[in-house]
Amino acid sequence: MRKIIIDTDPGIDDALAILLALSAKEELEVLALTTVNGNVDIEKVTKNAFKILDVAGRRDIPVYKGNSKPLMRENSMPADCHGDDGLGNIGMEESGRVPEEESAADFLIRKAREEKGEITLVPIGPLTNIAEAIQKDPEFVKNIKEVVIMGGAIHEGNVTPHAEFNFWVDPEAAKIVFQAGFEKIVMVGLDATRYVWLDPALRELLYQINTPVSRFIHKVTRVYADAHWGYGQKLGCELCDVLVTAYLLDTSVLETTDAFVDVETQGLCDGASVVYPIWKYGDRQKNCEAAVKADTKKFFEIFFGYLFPEYLENVKKIQG
Ligand code: RIB
Ligand code: CA
Repeated sequence: MRKIIIDTDPGIDDALAILLALSAKEELEVLALTTVNGNVDIEKVTKNAFKILDVAGRRDIPVYKGNSKPLMRENSMPADCHGDDGLGNIGMEESGRVPEEESAADFLIRKAREEKGEITLVPIGPLTNIAEAIQKDPEFVKNIKEVVIMGGAIHEGNVTPHAEFNFWVDPEAAKIVFQAGFEKIVMVGLDATRYVWLDPALRELLYQINTPVSRFIHKVTRVYADAHWGYGQKLGCELCDVLVTAYLLDTSVLETTDAFVDVETQGLCDGASVVYPIWKYGDRQKNCEAAVKADTKKFFEIFFGYLFPEYLENVKKIQG
C-alpha cells in the first residue's frame, strides 16, 4: 500500500487521475489533496477538488489549499482546454466543504515529518507548493519517499515548442524540485502521455457503462475532447495526469530512462525541461527517471480494470 498525497490543479485529466487513485483501495491510500493554481485559479481548482471527491463519495478526504500564483512570477494564462470552471463547464453542484486551515505547503511539511520516508508525492499540476515546502523545511526532501510528477517533455512541449504546461506555469518551482535531491523522482512527461489517448470508442464505452462515475467521466471529457479537436483535428483527448496514477498501480506501463533534468527559467525556451539521458551524457548526475514511452493497451486495461472491472473484456475487444 502506497501512502500518497496528490498535488493538483483540477483540471479534467486531474479529475480522472484522482478517481482512478481512489478506486485502487488496496494499492493506494490517498491521504489528502493539495491544490495549486494552474489550469484555473486557486479558488476554482479547490472547489473542483471537492466536487471530484463528492463524485467518488470520499468526503472524508481533506483538501489543503495552496499557492494562488507561481513562486517568483506573476500569474500565467489559465489552460484553455478544461472549461471556464476547470471541470468541463458541466454545471456541477458546489460541495459545500471548505479547505483545511493549514496551507498546502505546511501540510506537506508536517505530514512528511509525521510519516518519514512513507509518503509518495504525486504532483499533477505546477510545482509551486512542492517548491515552497522545500524552501520552508530543510528536512522535507529527506522525509519524502518518492515524487511521481506529471510534467515536462523530452522532445516537444504543449504550450511552446519546448515547454509543457505544468513546468511553463512555474519554471522556477520546477527547477527547485529537480535540484532538491529527492531520493526518487519519476518525470512523466508528454513523450509518454501522448500514448494515453482516450479515443471515441473508449469514451463511448464510458457512456454505455452508465454508472454515476462513468457518466461523469464521459460528460467532463466533452470540453476536453473539443479542445483537442481544435488543436489538431484528432478525435479524443490526452489523459496526461492519469498516466501518473496508472504508473503507481503498475510501473510496467511506463518505459523510463535514467536522466539529469534541469528547467529553463528565461528566454525563448522558458519553462522547458532539458533532459540529459545518462546513457548518452555520462558526466551528468542522475536526478530522475524520465518517461520515454507508455503502453497504451496496458494503460486502458489499468484505467478500466480498476474503475469498471466488469467491462475489461469490452476494453480488450475495442483495443484489439
Ligand atoms: O501538460 C499537461 C498538464 O497540464 C496536465 O497536468 C493537465 O492538467 C494540463 O493542464
Ligand atoms: Ca493537472
